[in-house]
Amino acid sequence: MFFLPVMLLLLSGASARFVLDFQRQCSGFFHHNIPPTVFPAPRYTQLCQTLNNVDHYATLYDTKNKIPVYSAYVFTGWVDCKKDSDWYIEPQLKSTIPNMALEGIPLQLQASNRDYQDSGFVKGLLAPVSLANSQQCADATFTLTNAAPQDPSFNSGKWKVVESGMNKTLSQCTGPAYIVTGVVPGVQTINNRVNVPSHFWTAYCCQRNALLISGGVIGGNKEDLRPAHVRQLETYLTNLYGVGYFSLFDSNCKDALYVPVLGKD
Ligand SMILES: *[C@@H]1O[C@H](CO)[C@@H](O)[C@H](O)[C@H]1NC(C)=O
Repeated sequence: MFFLPVMLLLLSGASARFVLDFQRQCSGFFHHNIPPTVFPAPRYTQLCQTLNNVDHYATLYDTKNKIPVYSAYVFTGWVDCKKDSDWYIEPQLKSTIPNMALEGIPLQLQASNRDYQDSGFVKGLLAPVSLANSQQCADATFTLTNAAPQDPSFNSGKWKVVESGMNKTLSQCTGPAYIVTGVVPGVQTINNRVNVPSHFWTAYCCQRNALLISGGVIGGNKEDLRPAHVRQLETYLTNLYGVGYFSLFDSNCKDALYVPVLGKD
């Protein structure tokens, strides 16, 4: 009876705090505090991704498809972080247990490690380790609510090119870079539960001295990458999500100077 609470405490470093409005309750991750389009609750939940009581990024999570729509985060300079964390899941998506646990909680509304086992897909991180601002932040990315089934060859191929291109492009930033990385649901599922995205996409916006710069890229979950400026990417996503308009950033970022994510070497 004594050990259980202690164990939960030991495991309680990472969690996703359910918020009603992450613009107000998980701020700091959006340029000019304007988040991307938020799809409506209760199917879509706004999560503030927290480790040891520090907010690290924001995620809009689709509880039906059991994958995120996007994670929004800020890059402030490259740090050599290690991929050494366990995978976390968040009991908040179902219960009122305040702390995270590794397994054994209700999973009706979120993916679990088991869903990915022998699925032929890997857990593709949206907010990536490569752009984490600290080891804590890197650890905080290892949550199932920040991941979606990704084709292994895309993960180690084209998407890796995107992550390193992003790392390179953002080295031009003279202030914090605001980044949104997301997926578009596809037609396939793994374990009859978790949607396999048709596309992965990412976009950034930052100050380069007196200029604001931005850009993005979208790729089929195996196929080619399509670089795009922010408004182009918004148009693609508007069509793919089938919504009125899908916005990534405030208008300053939409109208910023286009600097491609995949620069020439
Ligand atoms: C990111 O860029 C830095 C230099 O700014 C480099 O040292 C590092 O190896 C790069 N990391 C990745 C994952 O590409």
